[in-house]
Amino acid sequence: MEVVIVPDAAAGGELIATAIADLLARKPDALLGVATGSTPLPIYTALSAKVRSGGVDASRARICQLDEYVGLPAGHPESYRSTVLREVVEPLGLGESSFLGPDGNAADITAACEAYDQALADAGGVDLQLLGIGTDGHIGFNEPCSSLASRTRIKTLTEQTRVDNARFFDDDIDQVPHHVITQGIGTILDARHLVLLATGAGKAEAVAATVEGPVSALVPASALQLHRHATVVVDEAAAAGL
Ligand code: GLP
Repeated sequence: MEVVIVPDAAAGGELIATAIADLLARKPDALLGVATGSTPLPIYTALSAKVRSGGVDASRARICQLDEYVGLPAGHPESYRSTVLREVVEPLGLGESSFLGPDGNAADITAACEAYDQALADAGGVDLQLLGIGTDGHIGFNEPCSSLASRTRIKTLTEQTRVDNARFFDDDIDQVPHHVITQGIGTILDARHLVLLATGAGKAEAVAATVEGPVSALVPASALQLHRHATVVVDEAAAAGL
């Protein structure tokens, strides 16, 4: 695992956007796994600026989702499908045909999870997977105690994660879904390159456990220690516990 400490979130975004640009120069149709939440926004801002200035050709890039809420109405602005379309797919000038995601409204959620796991494999696998980290060390929506070998499946959110994510739902925890679909930890580890960005003092404890703690299902992000090409980018505040 490579750990890179940057001065601030904008520098982290620029660094990772440059890595994505390098990947697209080598492999124009790379499959890029994206994460939601506030943390990766500087990456998407920096990457779309590179595309707009003509420095990066992302026209053949493919984008895939890490996770999704179960049961939000189609087109809900806070579904991760809507979020990724708004924050990544549209700013990069791509269309929905470049985009893969799980169906959080499927009648058979278990089948939808298996189908998504298979779709990622059929697409040739994820070339670079972006990750954020929850305050409890979760990646995607793999909450503590998730199996390190897990595949895409339905999970129940912890109270802590629902509290953390209530800010996207008018600060009303009752609007935050209880259930989600997430790529499993095993699914995430199948990606060729994992890039986790963590910023702010609130992530310092989770980052220290991820990087310096034992590999443990209690800290799902610690599974990155098992990956042959994992990069953890942290700002100085998030690095405070290292
Ligand atoms: C959610 C997402 C994760 C994300 C996490 C942290 O739980 N499922 O993929 O990493 O939030 O979000 P933030 O970056 O806003 O702290």
